[in-house]
Amino acid sequence: MTNTDELLFNPFAPGFFENPYEQYKLLRDEDPVQEHPLGFWFVSRYEDVSALLRAGLSVDIANLADTPFEFFAADEDAGALNRSMLDRDPPDHTRLRSLVTKVFTRRAIAALEPKIVALVDAALDRMAERGTCDLVEELAFPLPFAVISEMLGMPPTDHARVRELSGTLVRSLEIVADEETARAIAAADAELTAITREVIAWKRANPAEDLLTALIAAEHDGQVLDGDELVAQVVLLYVAGHETTVNLIANGVNALLRNPSQLELLRSQPDLAANAVEEFLRYDSPVQQTRRITTAPHTVAGREIPAGTFVLACLGSANRDERFFGPDAAELRLDRPEARHQVSFGAGPHHCLGAALARLEGQVAVSRLVRRFPGLGFAGELEWNGRINLRGPAKFPVHV
Ligand code: HEM
Repeated sequence: MTNTDELLFNPFAPGFFENPYEQYKLLRDEDPVQEHPLGFWFVSRYEDVSALLRAGLSVDIANLADTPFEFFAADEDAGALNRSMLDRDPPDHTRLRSLVTKVFTRRAIAALEPKIVALVDAALDRMAERGTCDLVEELAFPLPFAVISEMLGMPPTDHARVRELSGTLVRSLEIVADEETARAIAAADAELTAITREVIAWKRANPAEDLLTALIAAEHDGQVLDGDELVAQVVLLYVAGHETTVNLIANGVNALLRNPSQLELLRSQPDLAANAVEEFLRYDSPVQQTRRITTAPHTVAGREIPAGTFVLACLGSANRDERFFGPDAAELRLDRPEARHQVSFGAGPHHCLGAALARLEGQVAVSRLVRRFPGLGFAGELEWNGRINLRGPAKFPVHV
């Protein structure tokens, strides 16, 4: 018989960060639309997650009947949180998103490829010199950080501090069960907002051909974007631009090193790179959950979720659902054709704006890394970052 505790989505259970997938499987099999005692609902099957994300539900926490966990008791006037497009419903969402879509075009992303190749090769040169190093520090983190900083046109800032603040801010995307963390998130939000305001002031005086200048111009145009909204979109792009892709690269390489036959397959068939990245996204998803909020009773798989409820759609679980991906869903298979249906970038109106950029960075980084270093392997224990949502390694020692 199954212990009832095992049936609860419990990211605080021992071993969760090493392997959340066993818990997800139990939930999919036994309680796929779970009413959680902490006050939210947890949806774990592929078809349900996919339909939920496309159902046009709200993402605005003002629609919550109750505040399910500590963070939402934080100051409503907090800086960037709650004002970015990720947290807004139409018409605000439509207006903010279309503004960024204009500059984040497929063509603009594709044009970045030579730059990304150069950044990856420079990182690989440094790794070759060291011999043994940390994959996150040398490649997985600096690549997306440099790319989004350059796209936005960020001035040289205190990178270490910005990295620390972003790392705290993204905890707002997960269940926060203690007040101390909630306070730390609010403080990081305030500081990152202040830094971003300074950056915007600097950029006004130093306009250039970049995303930040384009967004500032939109603010000048009048009703399009107000000052606080501008700050919130910049923080979102900056943080989303590097806190996620780091996990795509690192989780992908981790999966390859644990599956040598797949690593060899990628080496022998470089044209598998695009599908391989889809499979990395599916197999160990860089963003494990996204949220929706009901404004009216909403039925998922025959269960009625009441209005005003916070619903967590578990992308990491949906991507492992045997009902959709087949009985070998728990295995890494780089040539799996269904991998392209993974839901790691969400779906519906909030589908990730940076998906094409993340895919390109992932493809270039992983395929060049494995081709350059035939002897690539672990040089010690990988340590997980302890994040419930943005899952990835904090330490990843490798030898090349
Ligand atoms: C939204 C995942 C990289 C910008 C999202 C969402 C997810 C996601 C799950 C919410 C979707 C939903 O609720 O339906 C990822 C993953 C990435 C990644 C897994 C890397 C592997 C990026 C990058 C950028 C970016 C590189 C920008 C440079 C955004 C933005 C949104 C978003 C602006 C908000 C879209 C909206 O609310 O309309 N992303 N993301 N993301 N992402 Fe990404």
